[in-house]
Amino acid sequence: MKTEIGIGLAGFGTVGSGVYKNLIRNGALIEERTGVAFAVRRIAVKDLAEPRKVDAPDELFITSPDDLIADPSIRIVIELMGGIEFPLKFIRKAILAGKSVITANKALLAEHGKEIFELAKEKNVAVFYEAAVAGGIPIIKAVREAFVGNRFESIHGILNGTSNYILTRMTDAGLDFSPALGEAQKLGYAEADPALDVNGWDAAHKAIILASLAYGFWVEPSKVLVEGIEKVTASDIRFADELGYRIKLIATIKADDKDEIEVRVAPTLIPKSHVLASVNGVFNAVAVRGDVVGETLFYGRGAGQDPTSSAVLGDLAEAAAALISPRESCGFATHDLYGECKPAADSISKYYLRLGVEDRPGVLAQIAGTLGGAGIGILSVIQPESHTEGSVPLVLTLHDAPYGKMQTAAATLASLPCVKTEPLLLHMESFS
Ligand code: HSE
Repeated sequence: MKTEIGIGLAGFGTVGSGVYKNLIRNGALIEERTGVAFAVRRIAVKDLAEPRKVDAPDELFITSPDDLIADPSIRIVIELMGGIEFPLKFIRKAILAGKSVITANKALLAEHGKEIFELAKEKNVAVFYEAAVAGGIPIIKAVREAFVGNRFESIHGILNGTSNYILTRMTDAGLDFSPALGEAQKLGYAEADPALDVNGWDAAHKAIILASLAYGFWVEPSKVLVEGIEKVTASDIRFADELGYRIKLIATIKADDKDEIEVRVAPTLIPKSHVLASVNGVFNAVAVRGDVVGETLFYGRGAGQDPTSSAVLGDLAEAAAALISPRESCGFATHDLYGECKPAADSISKYYLRLGVEDRPGVLAQIAGTLGGAGIGILSVIQPESHTEGSVPLVLTLHDAPYGKMQTAAATLASLPCVKTEPLLLHMESFS
């Protein structure tokens, strides 16, 4: 028998209008599959006069999102407004009013997830957020449900399409960062203010959500090492290529043997043979390794109207199922298996280090001596012949070392008179 569930949309931008459009397009199919007819009762927008990306009846539109919450015929609210403070207040009120909540707001969840899920648990309402991480890829459902029988050994993700597009163009066309960013903006991939895309924080918000879900405690943003792709040059891409690697903005989430969790987002050298090295353009991918399932890979579009609304529609079906058969822990469940983030300084990896040095006898020995004195071993060295005046690039790859120790050594190197440019230090991931 058909059940009708009223929903309210807060926000009618790219994603909100996509949800409406695709609900009209596939509503009958969704109803056949779930037994639920979703009826959009109200759509809250900032400005009624603003041109709409998708047609919808005028009478649905209102300007106060609180009226969605006050409407007794609405049982599920979908928050797609953007920003943090206002949607946080809205979600709090919706939970207190007993409405199920769907949101795509990664920054909000990364910063306030703990509070939101504690309140949701107390009030026994469901909060779903598939669209917050990797757009159309159903990675939240996979980590939360499909892998419930696994301990997570690691999750590695390419979680920002814009930076992946930029790095792909730098690799394929030899572009430097700025022209590649310009292309991404022209094609509408990068946000008008692309800061969060390129400084690593958009991917970090998604990594925080995945890490929290996988390890059962809410990860503090301050515990996450976040580095952007702005300092990577076309030459770094070429040096990495020569060494057998690609540079990708990788979110690394892993547990060590003491069950401490490392969460890092940084431009990282990954072997060309690893499957993530072939994820190009605006695509996202997430590689999950569980102790039972082994290696898995999820691939797809991490942004855009249709992929993101596909995730919201999946959440709608989940939210309806939870309303029809209420259950505990809808969205996020804490557990006591883990509970500590590893300090970034203690995380261990191999490194790529690019220096600009004076081209004179003894310089290489001085660099090697400084690293040796710090207990850091050299794996390989590239020192191309210089054809210009000034410094020459010296590229080293370095054995496993704690990040804090490596940063101190890089700072010591930077202070040497023979080192002429700021060192670039990148992680290398072997996926072992
Ligand atoms: N701007 C993001 C990206 C999508 O480029 O992947 C939204 O998080």
